[in-house]
Amino acid sequence: MHISQHVKDNIYWVGASDRRLALFENMFPLPGGVAYNSYLIMDDKVALVDSVDSAILQVFLENIDHVLSGRSIDYLIVNHMEPDHCDSIDILCSRFPDMKIVGNAKTFQIIRQFYNFDIEGRCHEVKENDTLCLGAHTLKFIFAPMVHWPEVMMTYDMTSKVLFSADAFGTFGALHGNLFADELDFDGFFLDEARRYYTNIVGRYGQQVQQALAKVSGLDIDMICPLHGPVWRKNLPNFIEKYDKWSRYEPEKSGVVIAYASMYGNTENAAAVIAGRLSERGVNDLRMYDVSKTHPSYIIADAFKYSHLIFASPTYNNGLYFAMHSLLHDMAVLNLRGRKVALVGNGSWAPVAHKVMEEMIGRMKDMTLLAPPLVIHSSLKPCQMGEAIALADAVADSVLARIKEKNE
Ligand code: FEO
Repeated sequence: MHISQHVKDNIYWVGASDRRLALFENMFPLPGGVAYNSYLIMDDKVALVDSVDSAILQVFLENIDHVLSGRSIDYLIVNHMEPDHCDSIDILCSRFPDMKIVGNAKTFQIIRQFYNFDIEGRCHEVKENDTLCLGAHTLKFIFAPMVHWPEVMMTYDMTSKVLFSADAFGTFGALHGNLFADELDFDGFFLDEARRYYTNIVGRYGQQVQQALAKVSGLDIDMICPLHGPVWRKNLPNFIEKYDKWSRYEPEKSGVVIAYASMYGNTENAAAVIAGRLSERGVNDLRMYDVSKTHPSYIIADAFKYSHLIFASPTYNNGLYFAMHSLLHDMAVLNLRGRKVALVGNGSWAPVAHKVMEEMIGRMKDMTLLAPPLVIHSSLKPCQMGEAIALADAVADSVLARIKEKNE
């Protein structure tokens, strides 16, 4: 049975959620599932704004059939050509032989790269700021390249003041029946997953997100309809402000994320000693992660959220412990910048972890090392407690100063 919902005017949500998929893009854990959104605009001409992943095809088709009530689709607007939104295009083409596909030159190039079905004669190519009149609704196409892929565009319904924002403003997490963000406890339930989604999927492209935000800032927007997660019709500025911060790589909060790697618990112990001292100094809301245990996407999300980062790792094969190397590589690729950092390296006979971490952090933009790395040999000994405390104090001083400066 259909689960479609009315959105606004003659616009309907015809998406669904997948709670079975373990890994988004076969990489990011989805403990709460994921929603794939698609929207039907019922006007003189009928437009479907984006489609869905094949995992939810059945209910998607039932939703469409219910809303169409026998009508046909005139336009399929492809704002984003990633297969989680496009795996059903060939089926839509067979069901609606006269349906035109609306996209830009890159959209059609990528459709042809992924799929073998014939789109000749169906392509309605648009350029930046082109419009498409459906009758009462007029749609305008706003290009947002690299938010998340190069072909991405947003569609603005000038009549209903609805922005179909593609991946932007999306989140991980299945919908639970409530479609609108104001119908659920977004901050308590979705915000962490929205941050994890943004930082890991789009995080690299902060500059392009800023350009897209600048373009849409001039629009009169009543509602944001993303491709994943809830639809926004209230408190839009709050979520837009989060996107603005994330894409400028600005911390949301003063605080410390401690990411450690540890084979036998000794590096973990050094990290715990530092954490204990930070707490003693009045640093609250500490976040401590074992990089071998916690998926990096969660640590990345918190690294975007907080202002200070401590990394502690053993040396391994004359280099850096693999899981820590991978995390720092990921952070560099995602362009994380502007954090205050402290390092702890361990090595039983030839410690180099601290040097490799320092080099990797040094290649990221605007990172500040708050103290010389603490280097331990197999385990933290009483004679080095002073050094550990000094490192923790350097971090605590910096965090507390930031809290004061920001009036947090
Ligand atoms: Fe939801 Fe970039 O695809």
